[in-house]
Amino acid sequence: MVCETRMWRWTTFTPPHHAANAARRGLFLLRRVQTNDISDDDPEKVFGCIAKKLNDFDLAYLHIVNPVMAAIENKTTPDPRGLRMVDLIRKKFRGTLIYAGGFDHDTAESWLQQGRADLIAFGRKFLANPDLPDRFRRRAPLNADDPSTYYGGGMRGYVDYPTLSQQRKAEPWLCVDLRWR
Ligand SMILES: Cc1cc2nc3c(=O)[nH]c(=O)nc-3n(C[C@H](O)[C@H](O)[C@H](O)COP(=O)(O)O)c2cc1C
Repeated sequence: MVCETRMWRWTTFTPPHHAANAARRGLFLLRRVQTNDISDDDPEKVFGCIAKKLNDFDLAYLHIVNPVMAAIENKTTPDPRGLRMVDLIRKKFRGTLIYAGGFDHDTAESWLQQGRADLIAFGRKFLANPDLPDRFRRRAPLNADDPSTYYGGGMRGYVDYPTLSQQRKAEPWLCVDLRWR
């Protein structure tokens, strides 16, 4: 019932395939088992249902905030309900699936290899490391992010973290691997 109510709200949106360039549109969903005082009484059912319905929309991707973000980040045991949601969404949604939330190089690789996601997105690590892919490739140390600059409204914390070449006082090098082209 919860699912149907929410799906009704969902289906009142214009499906992207009614618009031009439908396959270029993605969708971002934020769902944790619990966020502050917001919780679902049956998140597995709701998100299983949404993931299945989204197959009709021919999306370029579905991007979800990792429901077990804290556990992945802190290397603790994830809430099994959260992992069940992840597995259910994978099973129901047939398109490209992106997760963000709490990943580092190794946990991202692990989720990709287990087939839980097609792509992993990074937020805070990318803020603090403008050359993040390059650092991952080299297994170089990362700059720590400074949460006090997240919502300051200015440029501080967005344009001033050093690249690896700057830290090594070397000539700047290309941080993008062009071999994927
Ligand atoms: C400064 C900052 C601003 C963010 N703004 C938004 C936002 O506007 N909407 C949103 O859904 N998520 C937002 N996020 C969450 C990120 O998209 C991402 O889901 C989150 O940082 C978890 O990924 P991470 O562990 O790789 O950082 C923001 C995160 C940060 C650090």
